[in-house]
Amino acid sequence: MLDNLDKIRQQFKEELNAINSKDELEKLRVAFLGKKGLVTEALKNLRNLSSDEKKIAGKEVNKLKHEIEEAIASYHKTLEEREYLKEIENAEHYDYTIPSSREAGTLHPITIVQKKIEDIFKTMGFIIEDGLEIQTEYNNFEAVNIPKNHPARDMQDTYYLENGQILKTHTSAAQNTIMKKYGAPKKGEPLKVLFPGRCFRNENLDASHENTFFQLEGMMIGDDISISNLIYFMKVLLSEVFERDVKVRLRPGFFPFVEPGFELDINCAICEGSGCSTCKQSGWIELLPCGMIHPNVLKMGGIDPDKYTGFAFGLGLTRLAMMKYNIKDIRLFNSGNLKQLKQFTR
Ligand code: PHE
Repeated sequence: MLDNLDKIRQQFKEELNAINSKDELEKLRVAFLGKKGLVTEALKNLRNLSSDEKKIAGKEVNKLKHEIEEAIASYHKTLEEREYLKEIENAEHYDYTIPSSREAGTLHPITIVQKKIEDIFKTMGFIIEDGLEIQTEYNNFEAVNIPKNHPARDMQDTYYLENGQILKTHTSAAQNTIMKKYGAPKKGEPLKVLFPGRCFRNENLDASHENTFFQLEGMMIGDDISISNLIYFMKVLLSEVFERDVKVRLRPGFFPFVEPGFELDINCAICEGSGCSTCKQSGWIELLPCGMIHPNVLKMGGIDPDKYTGFAFGLGLTRLAMMKYNIKDIRLFNSGNLKQLKQFTR
C-alpha cells in the first residue's frame, strides 16, 4: 500500500510538470482526486486493511491528498500569472506620458453661449432648470394655452412617438412643470427660473432652419412683476452677451401663452441704426419673443393669476450663437465639423 502511494506521488509530480493550461490541470485533478481518481481509490482500498495498517496507511493517504491539493492550487496560481504575463506581452503598448499629438477638445459654441447666459442669470438669483426633451402634448401645448386644433400648433409640427409623446417644440414645455414644482412665490421673493434646452420641429432644412435647435427660456413670477422688469432683465442679458450697451424695443407679437406678447428687437451693431443689409435697412434686429405670462398658463400651473403676474422670454440660443459668432449656416452646429466649431472659445 505505502509503495503504491509513493508511485502515485511520483506519477503526479511527473504529470504536473508537463501541464501547460488550466484545462489540463483540471483533468489532472480529476485523475487523482476525482470520484474515480487514484487517491480516491487508495482511500477506498483502506477498508481492505487491518485496523493497525489502516491507521498508518490512512494517515499517509490523507497526507498525499493534501500534498496534491496544495500542489494543484499553487500550480493554478502559476498558470494564471503566466497567462497574465502573456496578455501583457501581447497587448499594445502605450506610453501615457507622451504628449498627445491631438489638440484638446473645445466646448461647442452653443454651450459657450448657454454657459455665459446661465452665469449672468445666476448672479441675478435665477435657478437653472432642465426640462425634458420627450414631453407630453399637454405640457408642450395645452398647458401653455395652445389647445387641440389651435392654429399655433401648425407652426410647431414635431416628431410624435408611438406612445403619444412628442419631442418638445419649445422650452415653454417646461413652464407648467416648473410652476408646479416651486408653487406660488412668497411675497417679495419672486420665482426666477432659467431653462435652456434642445428643441425639435419638423422643418425643411436650409441655412436658417434646423429640425434640432436650442432655446433658452426665462420666467419670473411674483406679486409685483411688470413689463419694466422684463425690459431690465433683457437689457442686462443682451449687453453682457454682445459686450456692448444695447438698445431694445418691443413690438407687439402674438404667442398664445403671453398677454401682452412682444417681439424684442436690439439696435443693429453693424450700422448703428442707420440701416444696412444685416438689419434689412431698419436699424433693428429681431431677437427674442417675450411677454407677460397669460393668466390661463399661471392658473394651469397652480398659481393664482389674480395675485401674481410674471414675464417669460424665449431666446433662440442657436440663433443667438449664429449672430454672436457670425455663423451663416445653422447646419454647421450639428455637423461635427471641428474646423468650424473649435474656433470659438469665448
Ligand atoms: N416658446 C416660444 C417659441 O418657441 C417663444 C416664447 C417664449 C415666446 C416665451 C414668448 C414667451 O416660439
